[in-house]
Amino acid sequence: MGFDKQFNPEELKQYLQKKYGSGVQVEFFPKVEQEGTSEDEHSAFNIQKVLAFNYKPREIREYLDRYVIQQDDAKKVLSTAVCDHYHHIQGCSKERDCRDYKKQNIILMGPTGVGKTYLIQNLARLVGVPFVKADATKYSETGYVGGDVDDLIRELVHQAGGDIQLAEYGIVYLDEIDKLATPINVLGRDVSGHGVQRGLLKLMEETEVPLRSPTDVASQMQAFMEFQAKGKLEKKTINTRHILFIVSGAFTGLSEIIKRRIGAKQIGFMGEKTTLEREHFLFSEAQSCDFIEYGFEAEFIGRLPVVVHCNALEVADFFNILKYSEGSILKQYKRDFLSYGIEIFFTDDAMMAIAERAQQERTGARGLMTVCEKLFRDYKYVLPDHPVKEFVVNRETVENPEGKLQELMANPKRDHVQVVQFRLLRLQEEFAAKYGIQIQFTRDAAELLSAKAEEGHQDVLSYCNELFRDYEHGLNLLRKSSGRDSFVIDSSTVMDPAGTLERWIRENYR
Ligand SMILES: Nc1ncnc2c1ncn2[C@@H]1O[C@H](COP(=O)(O)OP(=O)(O)OP(=O)(O)O)[C@@H](O)[C@H]1O
Ligand SMILES: [Mg+2]
Repeated sequence: MGFDKQFNPEELKQYLQKKYGSGVQVEFFPKVEQEGTSEDEHSAFNIQKVLAFNYKPREIREYLDRYVIQQDDAKKVLSTAVCDHYHHIQGCSKERDCRDYKKQNIILMGPTGVGKTYLIQNLARLVGVPFVKADATKYSETGYVGGDVDDLIRELVHQAGGDIQLAEYGIVYLDEIDKLATPINVLGRDVSGHGVQRGLLKLMEETEVPLRSPTDVASQMQAFMEFQAKGKLEKKTINTRHILFIVSGAFTGLSEIIKRRIGAKQIGFMGEKTTLEREHFLFSEAQSCDFIEYGFEAEFIGRLPVVVHCNALEVADFFNILKYSEGSILKQYKRDFLSYGIEIFFTDDAMMAIAERAQQERTGARGLMTVCEKLFRDYKYVLPDHPVKEFVVNRETVENPEGKLQELMANPKRDHVQVVQFRLLRLQEEFAAKYGIQIQFTRDAAELLSAKAEEGHQDVLSYCNELFRDYEHGLNLLRKSSGRDSFVIDSSTVMDPAGTLERWIRENYR
């Protein structure tokens, strides 16, 4: 029997008003058919990706390296734990006996803005599982203030597009877990975080979470409609056995506890280490007993067997994040400007200056964002309406952004030659990658090239490709016969490319 025949709006209205009071307003909207792939097709694809998981820890590590700078310990531990976890799930799906498996839930410690969340986001993306991130402080024991920890699991289903099976393989990431610690004081244990720890305990082990929250009106309504349609209520639950839990926090004060336990004598050798290295060492010695003293239930910590610490980042790391991370914020700024047709380039000097300023913010890599936001605020507002179509950010720009902006507006072509040099870098990189040959354009070569390209209404790179058509072959031969592998291209080379190449060859055979 179809849904529409059975559905009685008046009945639903009465039901809801009885349950939630007569103040509840009920309206009905016509049902909209969903377009595109069916839910089944969609979920099959994702599930297959999870079940086809065949990464090795090293491959996961290499993927993380593309985005996350430093945090070697965390990368290693996470890659291994995630491989074990998903291989185990695969085993279970092939009906291997998996009752005795101990899940590798993870504690990730470390100061703010050093990549804890970022690591997990990248992991979840690689594995292709739904991922939910929340703050532990949001939850309360009863669920009436804030939310109930079961909501985390329901959110996974939401992220999985309603696919319960996929949600059952998801990752839950809980931040600020250290705020749940309830240290023993003179009056015994404080109980506020205790209840939430208990709630999480159940989830981390194995439990069935009802798909519909008992405290949520919308899901109760859905239940009612289903009951109307089918004459019975299907009991839908999510099993948490295979959900991986990762919790994190700064754990301020934990290193003191560890230090006290280890004793002054054993850490005497740390004399020559920096404060950061000491902190990292102490945190990597953390044991369950330290967490218990910190204020966690033994049962809670017992279910989080993998413990790892992310170290604080320094100026050099910030520089590397800007320059090498595929998630570098500079890419975002480049894209932002490019959407107005403006190209920007960063010198290494500029990146160093931004890194130094970020360090002073004391918010980890988030400081990079703060610094860049301040730096480019006026540029982003002013330049979209201005003829400036390119500029180079160097140390002076970082130190005096307004001054540079004024100069640019007075002379939109101010950075043109330098921009051309940046474009030529692409050619240099190509040569290096293809032939192992270093070519280098001098500033006056760049100047001349840009003038000539402009004359012929061409862009610099295609102009160069024509001009130096014979160089790929010629320089490669030269390198093979003479071993010479670096060439400087100056304005005289640009004036007479063929002559210069001949001269280089002649010099070689003399
Ligand atoms: N090690 C890193 N390598 C590359 N980028 C990083 C690194 N650490 C942080 N970032 C950048 O900074 C942003 C914020 O970092 P993230 O959210 O991971 O901080 P967190 O360690 O979780 O801090 P919190 O404890 O405050 O939640 C990331 O989105 C990323 O862009
Ligand atoms: Mg975080």
